Amino acid sequence: MRSLAALLVPLFLVLTLAVVSVPVASAAVAGVPPTSAPWVPISNSNIKDKLYRQVANFSLMIHALVFREYLDLVEVVSGSVQVAGVGNNYSLLLRAADRNATVGRYQTVVWGVPGSRDWNWMVISFRRVAGN
Ligand SMILES: *[C@@H]1O[C@H](CO)[C@@H](O)[C@H](O)[C@H]1NC(C)=O
Ligand SMILES: *[C@@H]1O[C@H](CO)[C@@H](O)[C@H](O)[C@H]1NC(C)=O
Ligand SMILES: *[C@@H]1O[C@H](CO)[C@@H](O)[C@H](O)[C@H]1NC(C)=O
Repeated sequence: MRSLAALLVPLFLVLTLAVVSVPVASAAVAGVPPTSAPWVPISNSNIKDKLYRQVANFSLMIHALVFREYLDLVEVVSGSVQVAGVGNNYSLLLRAADRNATVGRYQTVVWGVPGSRDWNWMVISFRRVAGN
């Protein structure tokens, strides 16, 4: 396995370079967001956006580092975005394959600031859910 630094640097760069137009992100610019902003569903036409796959990959990478369970992203099924401080909370339902190519569904919440170098992305939660 490559070193943590070797993994994190390209990922960080990729996330930094991902200039995206998440509609809810502009709410953070428009004013101070409420303590708990609404979760806005990601539309079916946007769910395949590279940003969401990058966020899902980031969560899988942290899960692999912490639990030594390696999962390959198959697809992001659905998700919602919530303005959270200077960034967003991303709640994603994803499908991922383990080392035996057994596909399972996972639910994760990740916080981050797209396009910013000033904040580290964080995995808030990650869990297996029913289905494949
Ligand atoms: C997600 O990670 C897989 C490898 O696990 C890679 O093939 C894919 O390109 C990555 N997707 C994005 C959007 O970074
Ligand atoms: C972001 O999501 C986490 C997990 O649901 C939650 O604990 C946190 O309060 C959320 N942040 C905001 C600003 O709502
Ligand atoms: C893959 O299958 C083997 C043989 O059934 C099993 O021992 C192993 O725990 C499985 N690995 C995963 C990641 O499920």
